[in-house]
Amino acid sequence: MSLIDKLFRLDGRVAVVNGGAGRIGSRIAEVLVSAGAHVAILDLDEAAGRQQVERISQDLDSDSRCGTCHAYVADSTDPESLQAAQQQIEADLGAATILFNATQFRGTGFYGSDPADHPLDAWNKVMEVNVTGVLLACQTFHRSMKSQGGGAIINLSSTYGVVSADPRIYGDSGVNSPVSYGTSKSAVLNMTRYLAVHWREHGIRVNCLVPGGVFDNQGEEFVKNYSSRTPLGRMARADEYQGAALFMASPASSYMTGSIVTVDGGWTAW
Ligand SMILES: NC(=O)c1ccc[n+]([C@@H]2O[C@H](COP(=O)([O-])OP(=O)(O)OC[C@H]3O[C@@H](n4cnc5c(N)ncnc54)[C@H](O)[C@@H]3O)[C@@H](O)[C@H]2O)c1
Repeated sequence: MSLIDKLFRLDGRVAVVNGGAGRIGSRIAEVLVSAGAHVAILDLDEAAGRQQVERISQDLDSDSRCGTCHAYVADSTDPESLQAAQQQIEADLGAATILFNATQFRGTGFYGSDPADHPLDAWNKVMEVNVTGVLLACQTFHRSMKSQGGGAIINLSSTYGVVSADPRIYGDSGVNSPVSYGTSKSAVLNMTRYLAVHWREHGIRVNCLVPGGVFDNQGEEFVKNYSSRTPLGRMARADEYQGAALFMASPASSYMTGSIVTVDGGWTAW
């Protein structure tokens, strides 16, 4: 086996990507399949999950070293729903030893709100999905990992969990990043450290990926402002997190736990 294969191949491993139908989650699922893993895309959005499975399976069809990709539906804020999915995944693919948490609540109507009057129901919903749902998924799949003698959990935070959103870049675009989002993403950072420390004896490594903003046809003014505020001068493509994701899930990061990997075009560097 080549050194590169030893470090990065995931042949036969079972990986769950919670929020795997989303922009970043689907790209993470793709790279894991490419490295040989059997990947369960777990998402609330059944149709989007199936679409991603189709896209990934078609794109990687000609690569004989690929694993497989499957869609499962679960609401990560509901322990029973998660448990049912975990049992089904285990029956179909085997026990998961890799988990990514790439969910987020994307509500409308509260972005742009002043923190002084950020609606309580929006705050609660963001916390429920972005914090409680991440813990519940970690709890659920840590059981699978424990049964296998270990695994890797990677939680997705955000630059806005490390530093404040910069209100100057939003201008008149009508959007902003609310106080609940940044607060929830900070919680994920320390949840990661806490779980890393407490599950070390089960061989479970827990790390956090901190992405910067992905280009998604936001308005011209916002993209220009975001880009000029970023040392690399542009927003990210969703596939630019694949390298870090594979590193964090694979033996290449075997001595890393409780750590934060920041991939943000330099946003937090100045
Ligand atoms: N896109 C960015 O610019 C960006 C920047 C920094 C950090 N992040 C973080 O990266 C992660 C992925 O971001 P994204 O842009 O791919 O998000 P996205 O909104 O495209 O995808 C999130 C996915 O989570 C799913 N989801 C929502 N609630 C759920 C629930 N209760 N149960 C199960 N699934 C649920 C959605 O259906 C969706 O498919 C998020 O945690 C986000 O906070 C994103």
